[in-house]
This record gives sequence, structure tokens and C-alpha cells, in this order.
Amino acid sequence: MKDVILTGVRANEEPTLGNYLGAYVPMVELSNRHAATHQINMFVPDLHSFTTPIDHATLYENILRGVKYYLAAGLDIERDNIDVYRQSFIPAHSEMTWILDCFTYFGEMSRMTQFKDKSAGQTDSITVGLFNYPVLMAADILLYDAKYVPLGEDQFQHLEITRDIALRMNNKFGQELFTVPAPTAEQSKFMGRDKGLRIRSLTDPTKKMSKSDPSENAKILLSDDPDTAVKKILSATTDSVGVINFDFENQPGMSSLLQILALLSGKSQAEVNKEWVGKTRYGDFKKVVADEVYMFLTDFQNRVAAISDDYVLKALAKSEAKMNKIAERKLYKVQTAVGLRRA
Ligand code: TYM
Repeated sequence: MKDVILTGVRANEEPTLGNYLGAYVPMVELSNRHAATHQINMFVPDLHSFTTPIDHATLYENILRGVKYYLAAGLDIERDNIDVYRQSFIPAHSEMTWILDCFTYFGEMSRMTQFKDKSAGQTDSITVGLFNYPVLMAADILLYDAKYVPLGEDQFQHLEITRDIALRMNNKFGQELFTVPAPTAEQSKFMGRDKGLRIRSLTDPTKKMSKSDPSENAKILLSDDPDTAVKKILSATTDSVGVINFDFENQPGMSSLLQILALLSGKSQAEVNKEWVGKTRYGDFKKVVADEVYMFLTDFQNRVAAISDDYVLKALAKSEAKMNKIAERKLYKVQTAVGLRRA
């Protein structure tokens, strides 16, 4: 059996440059590098897309657009072992979640920082879906025995709880029930990084760039008009140090822009730093980053526009049929282990 590399981006809001660089690019790079030896699953976690309120009238279209983004980012779905699918079209995700729920502790879930940040103590208006989000994510991963899960740093804790649930159930029901995903340090190494990636907000660089940030200037959306994106980069909050440094501790805004420049231009971070670190003209630097973002968005949006709904729907139907078989087989194995089916 081939090792599985799997990831997903929700369709709750328009994805940002942070999603693109943190999830799309690593997944596409890994799929190019490992297509001969690995199965690649890039899915849309559509059931995860309304754990916080959204406009449901646009959800279906957003899901299809999410798949187009994967293709525009370079995912080659013409290959047999590269699949795109929607989580809700594979009912085993929901059924597996319930079983995993019963082996997951309330205490460990209460420590999830994403839940704590998003709920911020207002439990009356926060859904059980948001609380249970990491277990559905664990089901997404464990159903396919995924070993590598390219994620931004903000999601590492969810990968850790997935590992904990898998180890716990393997101990109880037999070591071969689930493949335990690689630990986060090994995941980063597999992606060719020394640590996780966290692209910063353009208005408050101590925070990550987030789709759900209410401030439009904090984020570059993949659908942003390129001229608007240029303005956002030129007015990004940096610092008053007066010299460009790659130092996330003291100059997070500047460092995040250096990182964006390296990732979009295809140059190494060392190369970009060599060119810019020590220089004092922030304006010149931002202009170069803005130009790179402009070129990226123009090209990306042209590619998205060239992909038809029909092409996407056909690809989804083919992969969803294949994934339903794999997921049902795994679900049956787990149902048998817990005594719901006869061995
Ligand atoms: P979502 O849609 O919130 O985020 C998608 C991916 O984008 C990464 N990301 C970032 N990376 C770097 N810098 C940022 N500023 C930034 N913001 C977001 C996230 O880390 C993520 O990798 N829970 C997942 C969706 C999911 C999933 C899964 C992923 C559901 N089930 C199973 C993998 C496997 C999420 O955060 O989606």
C-alpha cells in the first residue's frame, strides 16, 4: 500500500495567501515530488465549513471554487493517485467521528487553543460543532491511514490530538487499526522546513493571517483584485527599527513579508534575505513584495477562470466513488474492532 499524503482547506470563507502558502503550495510540491510513490488526497472539508456562522447560500459554489483553487495551484488530478473529493460526499467521515468521539476526552478537547481562541468563553453562542472540529479532522485523516498531513502551524495541535486518538485506539484494539500520522517535527522535515509556517496578519503581525479576520486590510484573499492587494501590502504594518531583518521575534511583519517574497518568487529564504537584510528603504522592499503578489494573483485568477464546473464535478465524482470504497473498508474494520460488526 502507498503512503498517503492528505490535506484540506475549508470553504467557510474565501481562502487567503496564508492558506495558499501554508497548505496549497506544500501539498502541490509534495504531490509533484512523491506522486510516483504516494497516494495524494486533497479534499474539501465541507462539513467543517460551518462550525462558525457563514452564508449558506454561497457554500455549494465556494466548495467547487475551493477545488478549482487546488487545480489552479498546480495539483495534477489527471494522475490516478491524485484525488480531490468533498468530505460530506463520503458518509464514513461522520460515522467515524462518532466512534472516535467516544475515545476522546473532554479534558483534552477543552485544551485545544483554536477552540479557546474562537469561543473566548462565550459558550452560549458557540456550537458543539466547533468544539468537536478536531475529532472530525482526526476522522478525515485516520480513515485513509494518512501518514503526512501538510498543515500550517496553527493546525499542529489538531494533528497531535489525531495521533493521540490513533495511539489510544491502537493500544486498545490492536496496533494495526490505524496508521499513526508522523509527528509534527517529522511532518515539517518531510515538507523541507525546519518548523511550521505561519503567515502573519498585515495589520497585526503578532497574529496569523486569517480568513475570518474582520479587517479586510489584514489579509490578501485569493480573489482580491490585484491592485487592491498591492495597496494592502504597501500599507502593511511593519516596525520602526529602520533596518530590514529576518527576525520573527522583534520584526514579525517584516519577516513575514520576506517569507512571502521567498515563497512566491521561488527563491530560497537565504537568497531573499541576502538581497534585503540590512537595507533601510522599507518602501522599496514593500514595492517588490507587492509586485510579486500582483503577478501571482493575476496569473492564479486567470487559471481559476479557465476551469469549468463540469470538469470539476466529473473529477469529484470519480474520486468520491474511489474514496467511498476506501473509507467504508476502514470504517468496517473499526466497527468490527469496537464490536458493532461480527469479526
Ligand atoms: P483552514 O481552511 O482553516 O486552513 C487551511 C490550511 O491553511 C493553513 N493556514 C495557514 N498557514 C500558514 N499561515 C497562515 N496564516 C495560515 N492560515 C491558515 C492551515 O494551517 C491549514 O493547513 N482544520 C483544517 C481543515 C481540515 C483538515 C482536515 C486539514 C479539516 N480536516 C484533515 C488536514 C487534514 C483547517 O485549518 O482548514
